[in-house]
This record gives sequence, structure tokens and C-alpha cells, in this order.
Amino acid sequence: MRKFLIYLGVVAAVAALFVACKKREVAPTVETPATPEAAEVAMEGNVERGLELFRDAGLGTTGKTCESCHPNGGTEGMAGDMPTKPLTGVKDRYPGVFKMLDPEKEVTLAEVVNFCITNPLKGEALAEDSQEMKDLIAYLESL
Ligand code: HEC
Repeated sequence: MRKFLIYLGVVAAVAALFVACKKREVAPTVETPATPEAAEVAMEGNVERGLELFRDAGLGTTGKTCESCHPNGGTEGMAGDMPTKPLTGVKDRYPGVFKMLDPEKEVTLAEVVNFCITNPLKGEALAEDSQEMKDLIAYLESL
């Protein structure tokens, strides 16, 4: 009987250890989107949201928006002290040289966007992999 009890104790201890290990295995929960489609939506830029940001003074601190200098959603240029050309077809121009940033080096469209955010708009640069940057790029690439 005593032997049996010891045996039972050992079995119980092993079982408890096993359960504990299993628990630890699942412990680090990674947030996975419910469906693959949801994952894709979260990754990609959204054109409509990009246009909203294009018209959002919150990107900067001057009260201006992208549209203040790139009128009509960026489809028109503007004369004045800061003349601009229409942004249509801009995706074919970058990576490329943006003279105001560096006349010698090729830069990405995201770098140009951050130039306009940090200089004329006096805002904070967006991380290149942020949803906001992806949305703005998606909008610009749709032009
Ligand atoms: C105060 C005016 C001003 C504001 C505000 C502004 N930009 Fe610009 N932007 C310019 C000027 C000037 C240029 C250089 C001339 C040009 O390329 O039309 C330029 C160039 C660009 C270019 C490159 C165009 C090309 O064909 O090479 C992109 C893209 C751009 N801006 C996006 C934006 C975005 C996005 C915003 C808002 C986050 C913004 N800009 C806000 C003035 C501005």
C-alpha cells in the first residue's frame, strides 16, 4: 500500500510538471488577426484614410494641411512663394531625386512626405511603417 501511494505521488508530480510546462508553452500570446483578410487590411495603406490625412492639419503645427500647397487633393499645382506641381503620377518619380532634400541622392516617397511634414508643416516625421504613412503613400500612389 505504501509503495502504491509513493507511486501515485510520483505520477501526480510528473503530471503536474507536464501541465506546468504545457502552460508555459502557450504563455507568450501573440496577437494574431482573426482572419488573413484582416491581417492584409491592417498591413496595407488605405486610400480614403490617406486623403483624410492629406486634409488633416493635425499632421503639422502650422494650421496648414498637405492640400494647402497641393490643391484639390494634390491634383493641381500652386503658384506663389512655394510653387508646387501636381502630384499626379508621383509614384513613378520616386525613389528619385528630390532637390529640396538632397540634389545628389535618391530618396523614397516616404522621405519626401516626411520632408513636407517636418519642414513646411513643422510636424513630427511619421515612422515609415506606421499606418498613417502607409495610408498617405497609398493615396499618393493612387494619383
Ligand atoms: C507649405 C507648402 C507645402 C505643404 C504644406 C506640403 N508640401 Fe509637399 N511640396 C511642397 C513643395 C514646395 C514641393 C516641391 C515642389 C514640387 O515638387 O511640387 C513639394 C513636393 C512634394 C512632393 C514631391 C512631388 C514631386 O513631384 O516630386 C510630395 C510627394 C509632397 N510634396 C507631398 C506632400 C504631403 C503628403 C504633404 C502633407 C503631409 C505636403 N506635401 C505638404 C510644398 C508643400
